[in-house]
Amino acid sequence: MDKVKLGAMPPQLVLPVVVMGANVEGRPNYCTVAWVTIIDDEPPTVGLVLGKGRRTMEGARENGTFSVNVPGTASAAPVDYCGLVSGREHDKSEAFTPFYGELGTAPMARECPMNAECRLRQVVEFEGTDLVVGEVVELHVDKSCLVDGRPDARKIDPLLYVMLGGPYHSMGEKVADAFKVGKDFGKR
Ligand SMILES: Cc1cc2nc3c(=O)[nH]c(=O)nc-3n(C[C@H](O)[C@H](O)[C@H](O)COP(=O)(O)O)c2cc1C
Repeated sequence: MDKVKLGAMPPQLVLPVVVMGANVEGRPNYCTVAWVTIIDDEPPTVGLVLGKGRRTMEGARENGTFSVNVPGTASAAPVDYCGLVSGREHDKSEAFTPFYGELGTAPMARECPMNAECRLRQVVEFEGTDLVVGEVVELHVDKSCLVDGRPDARKIDPLLYVMLGGPYHSMGEKVADAFKVGKDFGKR
């Protein structure tokens, strides 16, 4: 297959987009984040890569807590809004309906079907970004999105962001069973 060199740039991925929530000076603020990853499952740990100076990060530092909210495709407009304007200039507290869990200070977005309540564990500084590491103390999921007690991706209908600059997509069709389809591949 012919390859074309595009220069030194990150791979252009399709990423599930999340909304980081934190209370800033007592009011919920939300920041749209696509550069998000799971770091560990025991203890459950997540990482969000944030540009310097995000208003939401000030709230995470202030309280030592934040939330990671997984929106459905129905929330594309408020998610995009929270990624277009900063809490420095706009009050985004009503972009979602906040609720609180056991940490008490991490506002979670009721409209998002899955919400991770996090304790801020670490901030790893890079030149232009910070890796914000949080430990999940509780995962809240809409009852209607559970199948056999587990979150069901089809029901959550996650909002996907296509790098670089969009558009948003929904999930496509199932391709194969992970951790199964490769089992016989090496025996060919
Ligand atoms: C689709 C989308 C994805 C984004 N992903 C990130 C990201 O991964 N990290 C980041 O720091 N900013 C990201 N942004 C930009 C922030 O959401 C934006 O700067 C926001 O206004 C910050 O809000 P705040 O200053 O109130 O915290 C994204 C924006 C959009 C629309």
